[in-house]
Amino acid sequence: MNSPLLTRDEILKQDQSFDKLYPRTLEMMSGQHWTPLRVARLAADFLSSGPPSRILDIGSGAGKFCLAGALRAPGHHFYGIEQRAYLTDAALTLQRKLAITNVHFLHGNFTKLDLQQFDHFYFFNSFYENLNEEGRIDDTMEYSDSLYRYYVRFLHKGLSAMPKGTRIATYHSLYEEIPLSYRLADTLEGGNLNFWIKSDNG
Ligand SMILES: C[S@@+](CC[C@H](N)C(=O)[O-])C[C@H]1O[C@@H](n2cnc3c(N)ncnc32)[C@H](O)[C@@H]1O
Repeated sequence: MNSPLLTRDEILKQDQSFDKLYPRTLEMMSGQHWTPLRVARLAADFLSSGPPSRILDIGSGAGKFCLAGALRAPGHHFYGIEQRAYLTDAALTLQRKLAITNVHFLHGNFTKLDLQQFDHFYFFNSFYENLNEEGRIDDTMEYSDSLYRYYVRFLHKGLSAMPKGTRIATYHSLYEEIPLSYRLADTLEGGNLNFWIKSDNG
């Protein structure tokens, strides 16, 4: 791996070269499971458009969104919570190789986190694997419709309790987790990338 020789701009330019920074099995998953760099750039710009903030990726996988976001918006801190330990490990390894300091990876279920510790959120349809076999990264987890509904309700409740001005970027989401108190600020990528801002305190 020769990544320390690349500049930030070079790292953020091409999915193919970014994905090659991962072990081969994770590189192969990127097309389906990790955020494309152009989407990461757009979402990071939206989420980081205010004062320095803590941005949480709910289901951070191998860390691609967080790492790209942290490079794009160095004045902000990106956090990733991921339920699969081997993906968190891969994210931490790449963070060290790239020497990025404004990113923090946590292993665990997002339901164990207090969302109030964060300011803004990124969500790439992380719970979908419970509904569709083809959406699964592997067979190491338990999947069910009821788990999907539980996660969606949990996130919806957490987002409802956030203060006015909270931002969420969703990619390929079904929107069920977005409370009505959030207004749609922009829609890009043919409707697949949506930006939301909490518009009231209710
Ligand atoms: C589609 S991938 C997105 C990865 C990353 N956000 C990115 O864009 O590069 C969704 C990830 O969410 C994780 N995930 C799903 N449910 C989760 C939960 N309840 N808590 C933590 N992580 C979860 C999955 O293991 C998977 O790695």
